[in-house]
Amino acid sequence: MGGAGAAAVAVPFVSTFQPSERARAAGAPVEVDISGIQPGEKIVVEWRGKPVWILRRTPEQLAALPTLDGELADPNSDRTAYPTPAYAKNTHRSIKPEYLVTVGICTHLGCSPGDKLTPGPQPSLPNDWKGGFLCACHGSTFDVAGRVFKNKPAPDNLEVPPHYYLSDTTLLVGEEKQA
Ligand code: FES
Repeated sequence: MGGAGAAAVAVPFVSTFQPSERARAAGAPVEVDISGIQPGEKIVVEWRGKPVWILRRTPEQLAALPTLDGELADPNSDRTAYPTPAYAKNTHRSIKPEYLVTVGICTHLGCSPGDKLTPGPQPSLPNDWKGGFLCACHGSTFDVAGRVFKNKPAPDNLEVPPHYYLSDTTLLVGEEKQA
């Protein structure tokens, strides 16, 4: 029997906080326990009906980011179609270097890119691939900061949702920290 588990995907869909369906539809912030995410692992939570990725980057993944700027369409996230919050306008494009928090929807036509986190040559990717994401719909590629590569259909980097840390291990997606 194939069973329901046969369709399971590699990336777990984790929602540790469950507001009511009505609150969720209205865009209630989502509280996420990130304590169990291992280096190199990505989880997905839902916010406003969108998949939000939380990737705990390895030191190797972080080290690759500054080397890619010349290959990217908007390395400093200056474009404004999906304005990057001030707290994520940095090399790692996040509050804490280790954790990427981004909306997993391609800025071209809205497909969800797939994980291509393993570096090296592989189908549809350059031989010097350093790890990131590939949108299979039309071939847009993104680095592990969600920055889009040049000359791809997607015009913009992946969106960084409003978020902040409630504690070292708890993230709130959907709300900015109050001043
Ligand atoms: S929707 Fe991602 S490349 Fe077209």
